[in-house]
Amino acid sequence: MTNNLEITLSTSKKTKPQPDQLGFGKYFTDHMFIMDYATEQGWHSPRIVPYQPITLDPAAKVFHYGQTVFEGLKAYRTSDNRILLFRPGKNFERLNHSNNRLSIPPIDENFLLDALKKLVEVDQDWIPSAEGTSLYIRPFIISTEAALGVAPSHNYQFMIILSPVGSYYAEGIHPVKINVENHFVRAVPGGTGAAKTAGNYAAGLKAQEVASDRGYSQVLWLDGVERKYIEEVGSMNVFFKINGEVVTPVLNGSILDGITRNSVITLLKHWGVPVVERKLAIDELYNSYVNGTLEEAFGTGTAAVISPIGELFWDTHQMKINQGQTGELSKRVYDTLTGIQNGTVADPFGWVVEV
Ligand code: COI
Repeated sequence: MTNNLEITLSTSKKTKPQPDQLGFGKYFTDHMFIMDYATEQGWHSPRIVPYQPITLDPAAKVFHYGQTVFEGLKAYRTSDNRILLFRPGKNFERLNHSNNRLSIPPIDENFLLDALKKLVEVDQDWIPSAEGTSLYIRPFIISTEAALGVAPSHNYQFMIILSPVGSYYAEGIHPVKINVENHFVRAVPGGTGAAKTAGNYAAGLKAQEVASDRGYSQVLWLDGVERKYIEEVGSMNVFFKINGEVVTPVLNGSILDGITRNSVITLLKHWGVPVVERKLAIDELYNSYVNGTLEEAFGTGTAAVISPIGELFWDTHQMKINQGQTGELSKRVYDTLTGIQNGTVADPFGWVVEV
């Protein structure tokens, strides 16, 4: 691996969008990071270059067999003008877990963190500072070898692109309506559900499309074997407050080990709120709704941070949660996590990393 990072600055700068136009992942900054891999050379030629299209052979393996992984994290601008990353080491650790599952060669995590800091520094004017905004960071790897044999690629490209963002869902922190998916599944034991790889997201689109046509924002995924146990919501992990205790599905190999999920569990424990990771069946959830003990529900992920669930539709049952309003605990978790991320709330866990 060669560590000499080359930087070529762009000669022109793009116009930056207004904070209220941002949405999610629509605009990209002036630069990107790129690095190549070849079996004989390992990871090499790391460079920051002007943001630009890439050229690939039509036979590149990524197009045919989906050998690719990605990550998502955010940078924040504090009111005293510092730049903070939230738990970036966790993302690069998970990237290597995903790499392992997809037979992609591992990358030096410390080197990646240094390269990311440099890229964010180069494009720091793009970090928005309005409330609810941040710079979304998308590291990803594609297999580039031009060959149609089904085998791990001999060549890859690792890239990082940056996008100033507002909220992920149009609803923002307002509760979303969710359809419990009982036909399609997202992942199965032994599959790729715990890896952040494109195929998981592609395979989820159909159910999302059907749910959206019926007026729901997302789907609640059940396990792929019994279609009984709750796994994830949309592309997020999921939490329920039932009778004063917070429950989230235990990591079982088909659920993504979310960094926001881990942070929420840590935060709840720190506050003394009972939190348990266990299997949670959809009929158990429905029973808790019927007997009035289902108090709150929310999804967690880097993009939306916390997304309260106001309504769940399962089979013929409609469950309105907390009268469709954002729950007290969901709001407290959202305010604290986003506060730690943007530097307005103390960080007792050492999660934020300054650029
Ligand atoms: C996240 O919640 O950060 C995600 O994984 C969603 C992303 C695929 C846009």
